[in-house]
Amino acid sequence: MVRRKLEQKRVVLTGASSGIGFELAKQLLKKGCRLVATARRQERLKELKKFTNSSDQLEIVSGDIVSAKLRQNLVDKAITSFGGVDILINNAGIGGLGPFEKSTEDSMRKIMEVNFFAPVELTRIAIPILRKGVCPIIVNISSVLGHRAVPEKSEYCASKFAIHGFSDSLRAELKGEIDLLLVSPSTTQSEFFDRAVENNSDRDWTPQKAMPPAVVAKKSIQAIMAGKHEIVLTLGGKGLVFLDNIAPTLTNKLVQRFG
Ligand SMILES: NC(=O)c1ccc[n+]([C@@H]2O[C@H](COP(=O)([O-])OP(=O)(O)OC[C@H]3O[C@@H](n4cnc5c(N)ncnc54)[C@H](OP(=O)(O)O)[C@@H]3O)[C@@H](O)[C@H]2O)c1
Repeated sequence: MVRRKLEQKRVVLTGASSGIGFELAKQLLKKGCRLVATARRQERLKELKKFTNSSDQLEIVSGDIVSAKLRQNLVDKAITSFGGVDILINNAGIGGLGPFEKSTEDSMRKIMEVNFFAPVELTRIAIPILRKGVCPIIVNISSVLGHRAVPEKSEYCASKFAIHGFSDSLRAELKGEIDLLLVSPSTTQSEFFDRAVENNSDRDWTPQKAMPPAVVAKKSIQAIMAGKHEIVLTLGGKGLVFLDNIAPTLTNKLVQRFG
Protein backbone atom coordinates (compact mmCIF):
# COMPACT_ATOMS: atom_id res chain seq x y z
CA MET A 1 0.00 0.00 0.00
CA VAL A 2 1.21 3.51 -0.85
CA ARG A 3 2.25 5.75 2.00
CA ARG A 4 1.37 9.24 0.84
CA LYS A 5 2.94 12.38 2.29
CA LEU A 6 0.67 15.40 2.24
CA GLU A 7 3.07 18.32 2.48
CA GLN A 8 2.93 20.45 -0.69
CA LYS A 9 0.27 18.22 -2.25
CA ARG A 10 -2.10 20.14 -4.55
CA VAL A 11 -5.73 19.54 -3.61
CA VAL A 12 -9.06 20.44 -5.20
CA LEU A 13 -11.78 20.16 -2.53
CA THR A 14 -15.53 20.64 -3.08
CA GLY A 15 -18.05 21.51 -0.37
CA ALA A 16 -15.39 23.30 1.68
CA SER A 17 -17.72 25.86 3.30
CA SER A 18 -19.14 23.71 6.11
CA GLY A 19 -19.21 20.37 7.90
CA ILE A 20 -16.85 17.66 6.71
CA GLY A 21 -15.44 19.79 3.86
CA PHE A 22 -14.56 22.73 6.10
CA GLU A 23 -12.77 20.38 8.52
CA LEU A 24 -10.98 18.63 5.66
CA ALA A 25 -9.79 22.02 4.40
CA LYS A 26 -8.52 23.09 7.85
CA GLN A 27 -6.66 19.83 8.45
CA LEU A 28 -5.17 19.64 4.93
CA LEU A 29 -3.92 23.24 5.22
CA LYS A 30 -2.36 22.39 8.58
CA LYS A 31 -0.55 19.46 6.94
CA GLY A 32 0.95 21.82 4.33
CA CYS A 33 -1.29 21.04 1.36
CA ARG A 34 -2.04 23.71 -1.22
CA LEU A 35 -5.76 23.96 -1.68
CA VAL A 36 -8.34 25.06 -4.22
CA ALA A 37 -11.47 25.25 -2.05
CA THR A 38 -14.94 25.61 -3.50
CA ALA A 39 -18.61 25.95 -2.45
CA ARG A 40 -21.28 28.57 -3.07
CA ARG A 41 -20.86 30.55 0.18
CA GLN A 42 -17.76 32.64 -0.45
CA GLU A 43 -17.74 34.29 3.00
CA ARG A 44 -17.51 30.88 4.64
CA LEU A 45 -14.64 29.89 2.36
CA LYS A 46 -12.78 33.08 3.27
CA GLU A 47 -12.76 31.94 6.91
CA LEU A 48 -10.31 29.23 5.82
CA LYS A 49 -7.63 31.92 5.38
CA LYS A 50 -7.20 31.82 9.18
CA PHE A 51 -5.79 28.32 8.86
CA THR A 52 -3.16 28.97 6.18
CA ASN A 53 0.60 29.06 6.78
CA SER A 54 1.24 31.36 3.80
CA SER A 55 -0.76 33.60 1.46
CA ASP A 56 -0.20 31.30 -1.54
CA GLN A 57 -1.51 28.14 0.15
CA LEU A 58 -5.24 28.68 -0.51
CA GLU A 59 -7.25 29.59 -3.60
CA ILE A 60 -10.98 30.21 -3.23
CA VAL A 61 -13.23 29.62 -6.22
CA SER A 62 -16.86 30.09 -5.21
CA GLY A 63 -19.81 28.83 -7.23
CA ASP A 64 -22.29 26.07 -7.87
CA ILE A 65 -20.66 22.68 -8.43
CA VAL A 66 -23.45 21.82 -10.86
CA SER A 67 -21.96 24.35 -13.31
CA ALA A 68 -19.53 22.88 -15.87
CA LYS A 69 -17.80 26.29 -16.07
CA LEU A 70 -17.17 26.32 -12.31
CA ARG A 71 -15.74 22.79 -12.45
CA GLN A 72 -13.37 23.75 -15.26
CA ASN A 73 -12.35 26.87 -13.27
CA LEU A 74 -11.37 24.67 -10.33
CA VAL A 75 -8.97 22.60 -12.39
CA ASP A 76 -7.65 25.66 -14.24
CA LYS A 77 -7.01 27.47 -10.94
CA ALA A 78 -5.05 24.50 -9.56
CA ILE A 79 -2.92 24.45 -12.72
CA THR A 80 -2.24 28.21 -12.86
CA SER A 81 -1.62 28.62 -9.11
CA PHE A 82 -0.04 25.31 -8.14
CA GLY A 83 1.04 23.72 -11.44
CA GLY A 84 -1.37 20.75 -11.24
CA VAL A 85 -3.53 18.53 -9.04
CA ASP A 86 -2.47 15.59 -6.86
CA ILE A 87 -5.66 15.06 -4.84
CA LEU A 88 -9.27 15.59 -5.91
CA ILE A 89 -11.83 15.42 -3.08
CA ASN A 90 -15.47 15.23 -4.18
CA ASN A 91 -17.23 16.12 -0.93
CA ALA A 92 -20.10 18.54 -1.77
CA GLY A 93 -23.42 16.86 -1.14
CA ILE A 94 -27.09 17.40 -0.35
CA GLY A 95 -29.95 15.23 0.86
CA GLY A 96 -33.72 14.98 0.94
CA LEU A 97 -36.00 13.42 3.54
CA GLY A 98 -39.40 11.80 3.37
CA PRO A 99 -41.36 9.13 1.49
CA PHE A 100 -40.56 8.80 -2.22
CA GLU A 101 -44.23 9.27 -3.15
CA LYS A 102 -44.22 12.75 -1.64
CA SER A 103 -40.96 13.77 -3.31
CA THR A 104 -40.67 15.50 -6.66
CA GLU A 105 -38.75 15.00 -9.89
CA ASP A 106 -37.11 18.36 -9.21
CA SER A 107 -35.62 17.25 -5.88
CA MET A 108 -34.46 13.91 -7.33
CA ARG A 109 -32.71 15.71 -10.18
CA LYS A 110 -31.13 18.28 -7.82
CA ILE A 111 -29.74 15.56 -5.55
CA MET A 112 -28.39 13.52 -8.47
CA GLU A 113 -26.83 16.64 -10.04
CA VAL A 114 -24.89 17.61 -6.89
CA ASN A 115 -24.12 14.14 -5.47
CA PHE A 116 -23.48 12.22 -8.70
CA PHE A 117 -23.17 14.14 -11.99
CA ALA A 118 -21.06 16.99 -10.57
CA PRO A 119 -18.37 14.78 -8.96
CA VAL A 120 -18.34 12.46 -11.96
CA GLU A 121 -17.84 15.30 -14.44
CA LEU A 122 -15.25 17.02 -12.23
CA THR A 123 -13.42 13.69 -12.07
CA ARG A 124 -13.58 13.38 -15.88
CA ILE A 125 -11.76 16.68 -16.45
CA ALA A 126 -9.35 16.14 -13.55
CA ILE A 127 -8.09 12.68 -14.60
CA PRO A 128 -5.60 13.86 -17.28
CA ILE A 129 -4.22 16.43 -14.83
CA LEU A 130 -4.09 13.95 -11.94
CA ARG A 131 -2.15 11.52 -14.17
CA LYS A 132 0.70 14.06 -14.21
CA GLY A 133 0.42 14.59 -10.43
CA VAL A 134 2.48 13.24 -7.56
CA CYS A 135 1.02 10.02 -6.07
CA PRO A 136 -2.44 11.07 -7.29
CA ILE A 137 -5.72 10.11 -5.66
CA ILE A 138 -9.45 10.75 -6.12
CA VAL A 139 -11.46 10.80 -2.88
CA ASN A 140 -15.24 10.43 -3.06
CA ILE A 141 -17.12 11.26 0.14
CA SER A 142 -20.07 8.90 -0.08
CA SER A 143 -22.10 7.46 2.82
CA VAL A 144 -22.85 4.21 4.56
CA LEU A 145 -26.22 4.69 2.80
CA GLY A 146 -24.33 4.05 -0.45
CA HIS A 147 -23.83 0.47 0.83
CA ARG A 148 -27.22 -0.18 2.44
CA ALA A 149 -30.33 1.89 1.71
CA VAL A 150 -32.92 2.91 4.31
CA PRO A 151 -36.48 4.24 4.00
CA GLU A 152 -37.33 7.93 3.51
CA LYS A 153 -33.96 8.71 1.89
CA SER A 154 -34.52 7.06 -1.48
CA GLU A 155 -33.10 9.92 -3.58
CA TYR A 156 -30.03 10.31 -1.38
CA CYS A 157 -29.40 6.54 -1.21
CA ALA A 158 -29.72 6.29 -4.99
CA SER A 159 -27.14 9.06 -5.48
CA LYS A 160 -24.68 7.45 -3.05
CA PHE A 161 -25.13 3.95 -4.52
CA ALA A 162 -24.39 5.53 -7.89
CA ILE A 163 -21.17 7.16 -6.69
CA HIS A 164 -20.19 3.87 -5.01
CA GLY A 165 -20.61 1.92 -8.26
CA PHE A 166 -18.82 4.61 -10.25
CA SER A 167 -15.94 4.60 -7.75
CA ASP A 168 -15.47 0.81 -7.80
CA SER A 169 -15.39 0.75 -11.59
CA LEU A 170 -13.06 3.72 -11.95
CA ARG A 171 -10.66 2.42 -9.26
CA ALA A 172 -10.16 -0.75 -11.29
CA GLU A 173 -9.72 1.23 -14.54
CA LEU A 174 -7.13 3.58 -13.05
CA LYS A 175 -5.21 0.93 -11.13
CA GLY A 176 -1.50 1.73 -10.97
CA GLU A 177 -2.07 5.29 -12.19
CA ILE A 178 -4.48 7.06 -9.84
CA ASP A 179 -5.76 5.76 -6.48
CA LEU A 180 -9.42 6.04 -5.57
CA LEU A 181 -10.68 6.20 -2.00
CA LEU A 182 -14.38 5.85 -1.17
CA VAL A 183 -15.24 7.31 2.25
CA SER A 184 -18.50 6.17 3.85
CA PRO A 185 -19.38 8.18 6.95
CA SER A 186 -22.45 7.53 9.11
CA THR A 187 -24.50 10.40 10.54
CA THR A 188 -22.24 13.41 11.04
CA GLN A 189 -22.79 16.68 12.95
CA SER A 190 -23.10 19.23 10.16
CA GLU A 191 -25.59 21.48 8.40
CA PHE A 192 -26.62 18.57 6.20
CA PHE A 193 -30.06 17.80 7.73
CA ASP A 194 -31.04 21.47 8.17
CA ARG A 195 -30.24 22.15 4.52
CA ALA A 196 -32.07 19.14 2.99
CA VAL A 197 -33.58 20.10 -0.38
CA GLU A 198 -36.94 18.78 0.85
CA ASN A 199 -38.35 17.36 4.05
CA ASN A 200 -41.72 15.65 3.67
CA SER A 201 -41.11 13.29 6.56
CA ASP A 202 -43.34 12.95 9.60
CA ARG A 203 -40.33 11.69 11.51
CA ASP A 204 -37.87 13.80 13.44
CA TRP A 205 -34.55 13.30 11.64
CA THR A 206 -32.54 15.39 14.11
CA PRO A 207 -29.41 13.27 14.53
CA GLN A 208 -29.28 11.66 17.99
CA LYS A 209 -25.81 10.17 17.68
CA ALA A 210 -23.48 11.79 15.20
CA MET A 211 -19.75 11.86 14.55
CA PRO A 212 -18.03 15.27 14.70
CA PRO A 213 -16.97 16.38 11.18
CA ALA A 214 -13.40 16.88 12.44
CA VAL A 215 -13.21 13.14 13.17
CA VAL A 216 -14.57 12.26 9.72
CA ALA A 217 -11.96 14.56 8.18
CA LYS A 218 -9.14 13.12 10.31
CA LYS A 219 -10.02 9.51 9.44
CA SER A 220 -10.36 10.40 5.74
CA ILE A 221 -6.93 12.07 5.75
CA GLN A 222 -5.38 9.08 7.52
CA ALA A 223 -6.87 6.83 4.80
CA ILE A 224 -5.50 9.10 2.04
CA MET A 225 -2.05 8.90 3.63
CA ALA A 226 -2.27 5.12 4.07
CA GLY A 227 -3.37 4.61 0.45
CA LYS A 228 -6.61 2.87 1.45
CA HIS A 229 -9.33 2.22 -1.13
CA GLU A 230 -12.41 2.25 1.03
CA ILE A 231 -13.35 3.16 4.60
CA VAL A 232 -16.61 2.81 6.52
CA LEU A 233 -16.21 5.13 9.48
CA THR A 234 -18.30 3.89 12.38
CA LEU A 235 -18.81 0.56 14.12
CA GLY A 236 -22.55 0.86 13.47
CA GLY A 237 -21.88 1.52 9.78
CA LYS A 238 -19.50 -1.45 9.55
CA GLY A 239 -22.06 -3.64 11.33
CA LEU A 240 -24.84 -2.61 8.94
CA VAL A 241 -22.72 -3.28 5.85
CA PHE A 242 -21.56 -6.66 7.24
CA LEU A 243 -25.07 -7.75 8.21
CA ASP A 244 -26.44 -6.71 4.82
CA ASN A 245 -23.78 -8.82 3.09
CA ILE A 246 -24.36 -11.98 5.12
CA ALA A 247 -28.09 -11.67 5.91
CA PRO A 248 -29.87 -9.31 3.50
CA THR A 249 -33.37 -10.63 4.31
CA LEU A 250 -32.88 -10.05 8.03
CA THR A 251 -31.38 -6.61 7.33
CA ASN A 252 -34.43 -5.72 5.21
CA LYS A 253 -36.71 -6.63 8.11
CA LEU A 254 -34.64 -4.61 10.59
CA VAL A 255 -34.49 -1.59 8.28
CA GLN A 256 -38.27 -1.74 7.64
CA ARG A 257 -38.91 -1.85 11.38
CA PHE A 258 -36.31 0.58 12.71
CA GLY A 259 -35.44 2.69 9.62
N1 LIG B 1 -23.93 14.76 7.57
C1 LIG B 1 -24.11 13.46 7.47
O1 LIG B 1 -24.80 12.83 8.30
C2 LIG B 1 -23.41 12.69 6.35
C3 LIG B 1 -23.34 11.30 6.46
C4 LIG B 1 -22.71 10.60 5.44
C5 LIG B 1 -22.19 11.26 4.36
N2 LIG B 1 -22.27 12.62 4.28
C6 LIG B 1 -21.72 13.26 3.08
O2 LIG B 1 -20.68 14.14 3.47
C7 LIG B 1 -20.56 15.18 2.50
C8 LIG B 1 -20.46 16.53 3.21
O3 LIG B 1 -21.69 16.76 3.91
P1 LIG B 1 -21.76 17.51 5.33
O4 LIG B 1 -22.35 16.54 6.29
O5 LIG B 1 -20.46 18.13 5.66
O6 LIG B 1 -22.91 18.58 5.01
P2 LIG B 1 -22.91 20.18 4.96
O7 LIG B 1 -22.38 20.76 6.22
O8 LIG B 1 -24.29 20.54 4.56
O9 LIG B 1 -21.88 20.52 3.79
C9 LIG B 1 -22.22 20.35 2.43
C10 LIG B 1 -21.22 21.10 1.58
O10 LIG B 1 -21.58 20.91 0.20
C11 LIG B 1 -21.66 22.19 -0.43
N3 LIG B 1 -22.67 22.18 -1.49
C12 LIG B 1 -23.94 21.75 -1.44
N4 LIG B 1 -24.57 21.98 -2.61
C13 LIG B 1 -23.67 22.59 -3.41
C14 LIG B 1 -23.71 23.10 -4.73
N5 LIG B 1 -24.82 23.03 -5.49
N6 LIG B 1 -22.59 23.69 -5.24
C15 LIG B 1 -21.47 23.79 -4.50
N7 LIG B 1 -21.35 23.31 -3.25
C16 LIG B 1 -22.44 22.73 -2.71
C17 LIG B 1 -22.06 23.15 0.69
O11 LIG B 1 -21.61 24.48 0.38
P3 LIG B 1 -22.52 25.72 -0.06
O12 LIG B 1 -23.88 25.53 0.51
O13 LIG B 1 -21.78 26.90 0.50
O14 LIG B 1 -22.50 25.71 -1.55
C18 LIG B 1 -21.24 22.59 1.84
O15 LIG B 1 -19.93 23.10 1.80
C19 LIG B 1 -21.75 15.05 1.56
O16 LIG B 1 -21.37 14.42 0.36
C20 LIG B 1 -22.71 14.15 2.34
O17 LIG B 1 -23.55 13.40 1.49
C21 LIG B 1 -22.87 13.35 5.25
